[in-house]
Amino acid sequence: MSDAPDVPDAPDAAGDPASRAPGGPRAGALGDPAADRPGDPGCPNAAQAAEWDGPAGAHRTRHAAVFDAETRPHNERFRAATGVGRGDRVLDIGCGTGQSTRDAARAAVAGSALGIDLSAQMLEHARRVSSEEGLTNVGFQQADAQVHRFPAGGFDVAISRFGSMFFDDPVAAFGNIGQALRPGGRLVLMVWQAREHNAWSTTIREAVAGDADLPPPPGTGPHPFSLGDPAVTGGILTAAGFTEVGFADVREPVYYGPDAAVALDVVRGLRSTKDLLAGMDAAAAENALDRLRATLAAHQTGAGVLFDARTWIITARRP
Ligand SMILES: C[S@@+](CC[C@H](N)C(=O)[O-])C[C@H]1O[C@@H](n2cnc3c(N)ncnc32)[C@H](O)[C@@H]1O
Repeated sequence: MSDAPDVPDAPDAAGDPASRAPGGPRAGALGDPAADRPGDPGCPNAAQAAEWDGPAGAHRTRHAAVFDAETRPHNERFRAATGVGRGDRVLDIGCGTGQSTRDAARAAVAGSALGIDLSAQMLEHARRVSSEEGLTNVGFQQADAQVHRFPAGGFDVAISRFGSMFFDDPVAAFGNIGQALRPGGRLVLMVWQAREHNAWSTTIREAVAGDADLPPPPGTGPHPFSLGDPAVTGGILTAAGFTEVGFADVREPVYYGPDAAVALDVVRGLRSTKDLLAGMDAAAAENALDRLRATLAAHQTGAGVLFDARTWIITARRP
């Protein structure tokens, strides 16, 4: 739901007393859809905002059910690791269509959960589903986690399921998120391990590329595997002011749909697949899609189309 319910101790997400409704519950407490407009050209993360608040957001909204199912076993581990308590005020970074925010809200029965994301379309989906599920302690806001003015110390736990790998300046972003936590507050992230440990990426890319050389893997900068190296990510979080940084290894398959036809629709909309196809002429792209179709069919199991995957659950604390 988008309108702020009357939730005790809910954080003022806009960090702006002027956003409070006179005499009523705090308008920004659980997300004010009009408070932020991330993604203006020249702003931090403008390219990411263009992608997520554009085609990637539309694709993930259209396939929200598959993407929620994609990482279900990983998510079960993540949900347990978040350890949300009944009174916790939870901030969910890059919440997308909001499954992890709703999970947090259900655990925080006497607290609240605020999901923020760059994508208006995914947030709209998140609000609708939350409302249908009758959740009254959850809110969503379009905002950039790297620069948004969160209420200082306004949250007990910050969580993110695959939403924290895309910052232009990760030290600045995690520093900003740290300021939103109360002293002693916890950070719990789920991120992909390095690409070479994730067959869902390597196998799909190799199928699309065929005999052609794959572009070199991205180094630094925002991309799905940017937090995959514990040494690098530990350094980022420490530089951002966090302590007690820990990594738990999760090895579970990911799911791309009940059959190869659905999986093809899902996988061809991924940014990395689109980028590879965009560099081919029409005939080569058709051949690439044939190879991809065959690869997806080869990964069909009784439980759907599955690929091996490895993630980290990263935990840290604001001192
Ligand atoms: C791979 S999706 C994950 C979405 C969701 N957490 C899930 O698990 O389904 C990454 C999400 O991070 C969001 N995101 C990327 N950069 C962001 C930023 N700077 N601030 C807020 N959200 C961001 C994107 O809009 C996108 O919804």
